[in-house]
Amino acid sequence: MPTKWVKILAFERDKEIVVHISDSGNGINRSIVDRLFDPFFTTKPAGRGTGLGLSIVKGILDDHKATIELRRDEPFTCFEIRFSEHAAVKNVV
Ligand SMILES: Nc1ncnc2c1ncn2[C@@H]1O[C@H](COP(=O)(O)OP(=O)(O)O)[C@@H](O)[C@H]1O
Ligand SMILES: [Mg+2]
Repeated sequence: MPTKWVKILAFERDKEIVVHISDSGNGINRSIVDRLFDPFFTTKPAGRGTGLGLSIVKGILDDHKATIELRRDEPFTCFEIRFSEHAAVKNVV
């Protein structure tokens, strides 16, 4: 079985904090990229997927004035999260 991996990279670019999260999966078909963040959108079989993962992530990031998008120029699935200089920081305790 091929090695599976997830990579998380964080760096600063143009006064933003950028986080790249990529994985060794099969990538994402272009035909679904516009629906990825829709609540309850899933390509997994019934009982396996809820379609809530990305929608909840986006909701949390919206609260922090951050953005998330799929990077389309990568060979693997790669999501880019960007926190602006003015991103809201909330206590999470
Ligand atoms: N890392 C990924 N690699 C490939 N497809 C993904 C990835 N993350 C999300 N997707 C696609 O987006 C859909 C929605 O994802 P998500 O909101 O996390 O819900 P779920 O994982 O329950 O299906 C998934 O069903 C899948 O088609
Ligand atoms: Mg998921």
